[in-house]
Amino acid sequence: MQSSIGKGFQLFPFLIILFVSLCLSHVCWIQVRANSVLNSTDESRSTDPFLLSTSLPVDTAFKFPSALPVIPSDKSDFGKGRIDLGGLEVIQVSISTSTSKQVWRTYEGMGLTIYQPINLPPSFFTLGFYAQPNNRQLFGWVLAARDVSGDSLRPPVGYIAVMNTTSMIIKQDGPAYFWQPLCPKEYQAVGLYVTTSPLEPSLSQESISCVRSDLTEKSEADTWVWGTEELTISSMRPANRGTEATGVYTGTFSCQRPNFSPPPPPLFCLNNTRFGLSSMPSKDQTSLLFKTYSPWVYLHPDEDFLPSSVEWFFSNGALLFQKGNESNPVPIKPDGSNLPQGGSDDGLFWLDYPADKDAKERVKRGD
Ligand SMILES: *[C@@H]1O[C@H](CO)[C@@H](O)[C@H](O)[C@H]1NC(C)=O
Ligand SMILES: *[C@@H]1O[C@H](CO)[C@@H](O)[C@H](O)[C@H]1NC(C)=O
Ligand SMILES: *[C@@H]1O[C@H](CO)[C@@H](O)[C@H](O)[C@H]1NC(C)=O
Ligand SMILES: *[C@@H]1O[C@H](CO)[C@@H](O)[C@H](O)[C@H]1NC(C)=O
Repeated sequence: MQSSIGKGFQLFPFLIILFVSLCLSHVCWIQVRANSVLNSTDESRSTDPFLLSTSLPVDTAFKFPSALPVIPSDKSDFGKGRIDLGGLEVIQVSISTSTSKQVWRTYEGMGLTIYQPINLPPSFFTLGFYAQPNNRQLFGWVLAARDVSGDSLRPPVGYIAVMNTTSMIIKQDGPAYFWQPLCPKEYQAVGLYVTTSPLEPSLSQESISCVRSDLTEKSEADTWVWGTEELTISSMRPANRGTEATGVYTGTFSCQRPNFSPPPPPLFCLNNTRFGLSSMPSKDQTSLLFKTYSPWVYLHPDEDFLPSSVEWFFSNGALLFQKGNESNPVPIKPDGSNLPQGGSDDGLFWLDYPADKDAKERVKRGD
């Protein structure tokens, strides 16, 4: 469908939805500058424990400027923090001092800190570690998983030493060693394990778990987190995205070394094989989310063109035109049920204002 109606009308709900989805899907991009006016040289930073723990934004947990609403619980599983993806139950572990352990830190560039999820609930296992730059407050999560089918998770059979920082000329507390789990046949690795000792991590499932292949999907590098010329650390996202895609973000990170071959096998994200919608917000929960996160738009008292609801626009004479039959537009039913459904944009239909001049002016001005 195409539409030639006022752009403001179209843009308004779109912007709200865009804003809300940005907020929900990511960090809402609120940068809160920490008060880092400490006069610390690199030397004092890496030896003084007080400065180590207080001088960087990442050492303060991000807090929303006001309390978040309490999501009313109803039949939906929305906001519960756990989902059964089909044989694999996952929980979202928000990274904080009580849920994770700081493993390694570099001060090079914007700096980077790596966290290991700890204190997981019984039978939940780590799929990978979490990494974030030091120049923003601590805010992030990783998924941890519980096997509810009997063969969804397996311990690694070995590790690939994907890289270490021993010979890198960077400001760091000490070297870090990055390990990719080597998985049994038909299982995939979802994230990396990081140590500060050259000893390989143990092969127990408590270290890190591999996931059965059909419960995983291809992933790709997403946002750049930290890097040098030799190395890039990126967050990961499902390679296949969209309304019908089943890939699930895991919050883990990957590490690319452009001039290093052969590259290790790829890391995977998870697959929501059940593809159930039980964790989607209900109508009441959605309204609450909108109330909380959507921006207020203030219009000038003399504004001529106001927004309207879609229903109001449809009920007040909006017309549906068809290519080749432009002289016979039909009124749109208030619920939109006579609009073309499904398919892709073939350019054969569009919406317009009522033909009558007065009605047109009225609808243009919104409600
Ligand atoms: C920071 O410390 C150095 C060395 O102690 C000193 O010379 C400099 O003036 C200080 N800078 C500020 C902004 O306090
Ligand atoms: C650390 O990296 C260097 C250079 O890539 C490599 O030669 C060395 O074997 C690595 N050490 C360990 C313990 O993996
Ligand atoms: C992901 O799950 C869906 C639904 O069960 C399945 O059709 C698809 O093949 C799975 N993807 C992979 C890569 O196995
Ligand atoms: C043109 O549209 C009118 C109204 O919807 C419809 O009755 C008529 O059959 C259409 N004509 C063609 C050729 O599609």
